[in-house]
Formats: sequence, C-alpha cells, structure tokens
Amino acid sequence: MELLKMEHISKSFFGVKVLDDVSLTIRPGEVHALLGENGAGKSTLMNILSGIYTRDEGTVTFNGQELPNGSISAAENAGIAFVHQELNIFNDLEVYENLFLGKEITAAGGRLKKKAMIREAEELFREMDVPLKPRIPAGELVTGAKQVLEIAKALHSKAQLIILDEPTTALNNNEIEHFFGLIRSLKEKGTAFIFISHKMPEIFAIADEYTVLRNSRFISTGFIKDTTAEAITRDMVGETYANEDVYVQRELGDEILKVEHLTGSGFSDVSFSCRKGEIVGFTGLQGAGCSEVLQTIFGALPIHSGKVEVGGSSMSAETIHRAMKTGIGMIPANRKENSVIPDMSLLENMYISRHTIDTKMPHISKKAEEKRFGDYKKTLNIKANNSDDLIVSLSGGNQQKIILARWLDTDAQVLLMDNPTQGIDVGAKEEIYRLILKLAESGKTIIVNTLEIPELKKIADRCIVFYHGGIAAELPHAQIEENTVMMYSTGAL
Ligand SMILES: Nc1ncnc2c1ncn2[C@@H]1O[C@H](COP(=O)(O)OP(=O)(O)OP(=O)(O)O)[C@@H](O)[C@H]1O
Ligand SMILES: [Mg+2]
Repeated sequence: MELLKMEHISKSFFGVKVLDDVSLTIRPGEVHALLGENGAGKSTLMNILSGIYTRDEGTVTFNGQELPNGSISAAENAGIAFVHQELNIFNDLEVYENLFLGKEITAAGGRLKKKAMIREAEELFREMDVPLKPRIPAGELVTGAKQVLEIAKALHSKAQLIILDEPTTALNNNEIEHFFGLIRSLKEKGTAFIFISHKMPEIFAIADEYTVLRNSRFISTGFIKDTTAEAITRDMVGETYANEDVYVQRELGDEILKVEHLTGSGFSDVSFSCRKGEIVGFTGLQGAGCSEVLQTIFGALPIHSGKVEVGGSSMSAETIHRAMKTGIGMIPANRKENSVIPDMSLLENMYISRHTIDTKMPHISKKAEEKRFGDYKKTLNIKANNSDDLIVSLSGGNQQKIILARWLDTDAQVLLMDNPTQGIDVGAKEEIYRLILKLAESGKTIIVNTLEIPELKKIADRCIVFYHGGIAAELPHAQIEENTVMMYSTGAL
C-alpha cells in the first residue's frame, strides 16, 4: 500500500500557476527523489504536503486518510517531518532547545524538564554518531553543523515520512556518506523519504524512485535503477543537456591579493597570493578554515596576526565596509542567514551592496536599476515576475542568483565566493561556471570555496586544500582530482 498519495495538486500565487495538476506517490521505506530545475515547484509541493501552504486543487492521502488542507499540525501528527531548504535554527537558543522547540518535555504544571531533554538530545546525537553538543548556543555552530541539527530535528520526531529539501548543501562528502547511512537504517525500519537535491551523484547513491517536475507540471516518474543521469536531466531541462568542459587556460595578470602569515578564528599562519584574472579554489572539511579565511579577508572576522594586501597596499582597519571599498566582494555561505534581506524586494536586494559603497549616488534611479536588474535576470536566467516582489517569494536557487547579481553589480576586483552554487540546478550551474570564467577573463580575481570537487575541476586554475586550519596542499588545475583532494583534506597525505 502507498504511504502517501498526492493527486492532481494545483497551486497559484497571485494568479501565477506554480503547480499544475501534479501527482506524487510514495511507498513506505522508499527514498523518492523529487527533481526539477530552480523554480519548478518542488518546495511548493512539499509546503503543501506539510500544511504550510494550502492547495487550490487536489487531494493528499497519507496512510489511507485524507489530510486537511493547510494544517501544519495535522501533517505533523500524521507523521510527516520536514527539513527545509533554508535553515530554521534559532541562533539564540541552545542546540537541545532547538531540537525540542514546540515539543518540550514538561512536568505537571508545565515546568520544563531540562535535564530529561538534554539527556535525550545526547542519546539521539550518539545514535546518529554526530559531534553535536546539546548545551551550545546554536548560533555558534558552523553552517554544516546547523544542517545536521535540522536533520536531527526531523529524525527526533520519529516521523513515517521525512521530507529532505536539499539537506546536504553544507555537508562534505564524509558527512553526506554518514547521513546516507542514517537514511538507509531508517529505511529498513520503514521510514520513507522525499529527497530533493541538485547533486546527481547523491540521487543515484540514495534514491530508489524519482519524480521530475518541469515548469510546474509532472513530467516523469520511475525507478532510479532503470534510468540514467542524462535521461533525468533531459526530463528536467526539457532538452538534451551537455555536460561540457568550460575551463580554458588563460594568461594571468599581476599579483592582486596577498595574504601573509594570516592567523584568525579557526586557522593559523595561512599564506597565499592570487593574481589578476585568476580563479582559485578553496576546499577542505568542516572546520578546516576555508570559510573563516574568506570571512577574515572580507573584514567580517578579526585578524589575529599577519596581513592582507590588496593591490600592494595593506588593509589596515579591517571592516567589511573597508574591504568593500578596497574592491573586495563576498558571496557568503548560507544565504538565509547571511545574504537574503527578507523584507526587501528583488531589486533592493540586488543593488544594496553597490549603493553601500558608492557615496556618489545619493539618489537611486528606479529606471536605471530596473534596467540593470533586467540585464542580470537575463544573464543569470532568474525566474521572477516583478522586481518589486519580495526576495523570499523566489525559489531557493533563484534567490541565490539574486545574491550573485548583487556582487556582480559592484565593481569588486576580488570576489570571494563561499559555496556560490548552493541550491542552483544542474543547467544553471553550468551557466554560472561560464560566467565565473568570463569574469576572470575580464580581469577579476575569484576565490571559490566549495565542497564539490567537480566544481573546482570545471573552473579553478589552482586549488588550495585546507586541513585543520592550515594549508595542506596547493594543486594546479591538472592535479585537481577527487581522490587527491580527499587525501589532503583528511590529513592522509
Ligand atoms: N510565497 C510565494 N509567493 C509567491 N511566489 C512563490 C512563493 N513560493 C514560491 N513561489 C513561486 O513558485 C515557483 C516554484 O517555487 P519553488 O520554491 O517551489 O521551486 P523549487 O522547485 O523548490 O526551486 P529551487 O530548486 O530553486 O528551490 C517559483 O516561481 C516561485 O517564485
Ligand atoms: Mg526549493
């Protein structure tokens, strides 16, 4: 018998149909990949399933019972848990408080049984074999650890169906393997999963069945073992998609960024330099220091010792504003916490960085901004209706493209990109790689921090592998290989 049947689901936002007669069936104990380009309707369908959005048409049957329309509690009580695409962690609460939020263990009279909750949290983390500590303020966790906490929240609910909307965007290969192990053992006990990801290898590693959506419609469904990555991608994109080599070796310019014996939070004695027009890849396991080095160069974290030079002059007062003025831009990891300004429109989210540094422009010309916006929308293929819409009304991948546009819109000479393709679909990724190469060709220097080695192979002239807060290796383009990188990043070499 099916565990879940979603039938003939339709949904419109402000007259725009974002789901059009979509159906989805899930059996107990299966991992079902829900696939489609950015804006295809995946998250919306899941928001309907979990009662966050109401459906305009269609039915949802879970365990033989029809679920009421738009009731979060009914979905939760029925046994559906949701790991959202954007993190939903409260930074001011401790880890265990996040875990028990809304489901606190209480004694008679409503008093919180803190010790019991902490013990249960400890047990869960031990069972999951993850290094989370219940008493740490969640704000102190790195992005990957927050993602693990989100997963823990879902597992803790003992749900029969767990929706995972891009759960691995901040996890490295080891962590993903470990997480897949957890999924497999829960599967054996009959738990079903809906798994949304833009990473093909993951889908083939974990999913049993798949369903593809395109432009709000159902396209195909079937067993993973009967299909190929090419066939699925074709269904997603609607045409044959070529996974081409985009890398071209280029003539590099003079040294532009020089980092000498830099020590900061989470790393020490890091030295490297980048040349004009160069694309440098950063990679390393969680806590290896890559992200922290970038944040320090950008003035978001303090320099403990050592120095950063841009174009030959030292950055003395390290503040973000100063870094931006010096010509450094940064796309930080974790867009919900660090990039997206939810109360602002698409347009405002796009131009905010440029206007922050450009003091010559006290007036904002809506017309000129609209024109620039239109250009980015075209280049980055952003799926959006109106530039006045709130950024949070866009799908995750399209929000990420707005953040990319924000920094392309400044004249930054050095662009630091921390996990820039978070949540970007396969086809659009390719476009972004081309764009990064084009930027480099025009003389911009780019550092890309990523956990996806194929990404580095596509674009990086050189890759710096971090281990334990220091540089473990520097690999030229030709030597960027999954195995080599893995060995250095785990300290095996
Ligand atoms: N709250 C909302 N208000 C208006 N439009 C919305 C809202 N939520 C989603 N949409 C629109 O619905 C469409 C589908 O979005 P959805 O988030 O479901 O895409 P997705 O398949 O999850 O894409 P991604 O891979 O980028 O996360 C998009 O065009 C999006 O702009
Ligand atoms: Mg989504």
